[in-house]
Amino acid sequence: MENAARKKVMLSGIQPSGDLTLGSYLGAIKNWAERDEEFDNYYFMADMHSITVRQDPAALRRRTLEQLAQYIACGLDPEKNTLFIQSHVPQHAELGWVLNCYTMFGELSRMTQFKDKSAKNSENINGGLFTYPALMAADILLYQPDYVPVGEDQKQHVELCRNIVQRFNGIYGDVFKMPEPYIPKVGARVMSLSDPGAKMSKSDKDPNGSIYLMEKPEDILRKFKRAVTDSDTENCVRYDPTNKPGVANLMTIYSAVTGKSFDEIEQEFAGKGYGAFKPAVGEAVVETLRPIREEATRILGDKAYLESVYRAGAQKASYVAEKTLRKVYKKVGFVAR
Ligand code: TYM
Repeated sequence: MENAARKKVMLSGIQPSGDLTLGSYLGAIKNWAERDEEFDNYYFMADMHSITVRQDPAALRRRTLEQLAQYIACGLDPEKNTLFIQSHVPQHAELGWVLNCYTMFGELSRMTQFKDKSAKNSENINGGLFTYPALMAADILLYQPDYVPVGEDQKQHVELCRNIVQRFNGIYGDVFKMPEPYIPKVGARVMSLSDPGAKMSKSDKDPNGSIYLMEKPEDILRKFKRAVTDSDTENCVRYDPTNKPGVANLMTIYSAVTGKSFDEIEQEFAGKGYGAFKPAVGEAVVETLRPIREEATRILGDKAYLESVYRAGAQKASYVAEKTLRKVYKKVGFVAR
């Protein structure tokens, strides 16, 4: 009977490798927070993934705690969601090693994130950067989730995780549940405001391309006013991602924060042009982020509370993770401790 009553499980994580952006929010966190009644949820700060790129230790610690405060401020109630720091749950590293041995060199070589990141960090193409998807598969499979809510750019890693499940279960029987990526219809790929051909990224060197969750309203407005629109002479708000990628990106953002459809947006700005559209998108984003920023700032001031959240989260996560790890160790032939 326990199974019949079992809620479906959701799990996801974000690397504290930079300040959270509007992309992290619309592609991931917003969708987590909307579903916390329906599912049993696990969300974590992927600090172990972050060190695949060199980090300043003090900044990594600060961002990890800020990220936790932001998760809560975005609506993830720690009573209904298990919120934890990846490095606090050692089973991630343990299962990560095992899964490394069930992940093929060829599969890892095809990962576009590896190709992008090794091109950007040519002085530090380390083993962790290459085998990172095996650790990500461990993050997922320890909790046997039904769904993994991520943005479009992480889909390839979830697909690789599914290949690992197939391979592992093919050898040892039904050990892992097959997870499904869960990708939002609008906001799955938010692009840079200064270069609509590139993803909005936490680690972008150009601060004008990204909107940060904690950013001041005046800075957000300024960035939207300066956002790159398209070089056509049409000056018309119309959804055409191929020919008008800058406008399409702004429409996506506006749609995600207001809930309006692309048709409704086109009608709202008919005859008004980009000069009216860009500040309107900026205002809508400011109003969406204002309560999040205010609440995150308040929570960050309460270090004891944050500590109680991540401790309880690690304890609960570890309990669930250990069950899976034991099963795996037994299957592969390790002597029980
Ligand atoms: P990360 O930290 O790069 O991004 C976190 C989440 O935000 C989404 N995202 C975006 N969505 C839309 N538009 C954007 N511009 C944008 N930028 C980021 C990402 O798709 C992601 O969902 N490997 C993962 C972290 C991770 C993980 C996991 C995720 C580690 N273990 C297990 C799920 C399950 C990563 O680097 O995401």
